[in-house]
Amino acid sequence: MGTSRDIHYTTPGLSREDAERVIARLQSRLHAMNDLHLTLKHVHWNVVGPHFIAVHEMIDPQVEAVRGFADDLAERIATLGGSPSGTPGSIVKERDWDDYSLGRAGTQEHLGALDLVYRGVIGTNRTIIEELDDIDLVTQDMIIGQTEQLELFHWFIRAHLEDQGGRLATEGADDERGAAEAAGRA
Ligand SMILES: [Fe+2]
Repeated sequence: MGTSRDIHYTTPGLSREDAERVIARLQSRLHAMNDLHLTLKHVHWNVVGPHFIAVHEMIDPQVEAVRGFADDLAERIATLGGSPSGTPGSIVKERDWDDYSLGRAGTQEHLGALDLVYRGVIGTNRTIIEELDDIDLVTQDMIIGQTEQLELFHWFIRAHLEDQGGRLATEGADDERGAAEAAGRA
């Protein structure tokens, strides 16, 4: 018995070495999507304030879509001969970002923090899309499709943070707390 992450076959036309490089990137995105749909539910439960119902209800379709992205990424790992890792412990151990930092807070504060969350996820997706250009265009196509949806969701968040001149309340903020405070002040 090998370790659960050894691969013994992959899809035709892809070398095993390239499959391993693709799987590592898929696994990073699987952790990101599992973390994101849990974080979005956490926000759905913890927003308070006069715009509660709008934000509470806006978030559930994002949770459903992101859960679907995780499923597609995991099944792509298995398709390439790998073993997807979806346990909470593996997410915490292998992720290179911090846990979401807000508990009960106003809708604007959470939206400000989510602007930063989406910036991180989308930025890494775009880096991985570029890296996949020479390795596997089929996986790249999957991640491009997911990124388009994530960018749309990011706009839904940002539309709440934007003034009539098109400036974001979170402009210049580079961490979640700072973004939440800036959004709360606006
Ligand atoms: Fe709910």
